[in-house]
Amino acid sequence: MTRPARDLTSILENCANEARKQIGQGRVADYIPALARINPHQFGMAVCGVDGTEWSIGDSDTPFSIQSISKVFTLALALQSPGAAGVWDRVGREPSGTAFNSLFQLEAEQGLPRNPFINAGAIVITDVITSHFVSPVLQILGLVRKYANCEQIYIDEEVARSEAESGHRNAAIAHLLKSQGNLEASVEDVLAAYYRQCSIAMTCRDVARAFLPLAAGGQHPLTGETLMPALRAKRINSLLLTCGLYDGVGNFAFRVGIPAKSGVGGGIAAVIPGQYAICVWSPELDELGNSLAGTRALEVFADETNLSVF
Ligand code: DON
Repeated sequence: MTRPARDLTSILENCANEARKQIGQGRVADYIPALARINPHQFGMAVCGVDGTEWSIGDSDTPFSIQSISKVFTLALALQSPGAAGVWDRVGREPSGTAFNSLFQLEAEQGLPRNPFINAGAIVITDVITSHFVSPVLQILGLVRKYANCEQIYIDEEVARSEAESGHRNAAIAHLLKSQGNLEASVEDVLAAYYRQCSIAMTCRDVARAFLPLAAGGQHPLTGETLMPALRAKRINSLLLTCGLYDGVGNFAFRVGIPAKSGVGGGIAAVIPGQYAICVWSPELDELGNSLAGTRALEVFADETNLSVF
């Protein structure tokens, strides 16, 4: 494995200082009531090198709701499940250019979601898992714990309940998928698993460690285990770059230039292939649902390290 060439301590300080200037300018996600109660002034960042070195700053040990970041883990699980062969017949690999919870494209495109990271695509991926495992949520949690090399990772059941109570758009998406023949399990079972995967709580340090296999060609540098073939890691990274931030993905590539996945809990996980896995977290979001301070931190990181993939 390549040894990261530098000490990132002062770069992380610059990232945090610049990022914190954004706090107060965004809004926490309030369409999930349990997320609306979070203290918006938090910021954390963690970077793991593929040699196992870690750096962190700020609230990097505070668990937060990973929300859509979970879609990367469920995709990895579906692609190693007995349902793997059918995944790409049921979900596309193109950016959507629409909001993450949009319905109209699904209706217009006969129930084939554009990619696995918008809600419609992620619900199909959770259906693959629900249809092939007896305990889908335990499988998901098991994969996340293995990737993060941490057994303490848990589901925040209050967030899951809150999301289930307010999840009208996701219910509409799941019913539309069912009516279009792209959901095998029951709407209720798939949504129950989906809400719980989104409600996994992790710290920035957990998420950065959990993304290390994507930075290290499928191997986990901390355990030596091969978690996926190198080709699959490369392909998931390509989807992060093209689909990881919904209709904000072009602007993110322009400003930051690093494959990444956001969640409405305010986390963004990012991968610099062959070098680093990163997680930033700050709960206030921009109008597209991506962390405002988190995006700024990654922009400063890419500028100061010159590690944009472009
Ligand atoms: O389904 C939802 O709406 C949320 N559980 C996840 C959305 C999300 O994180 C999109 N992220 N930017």
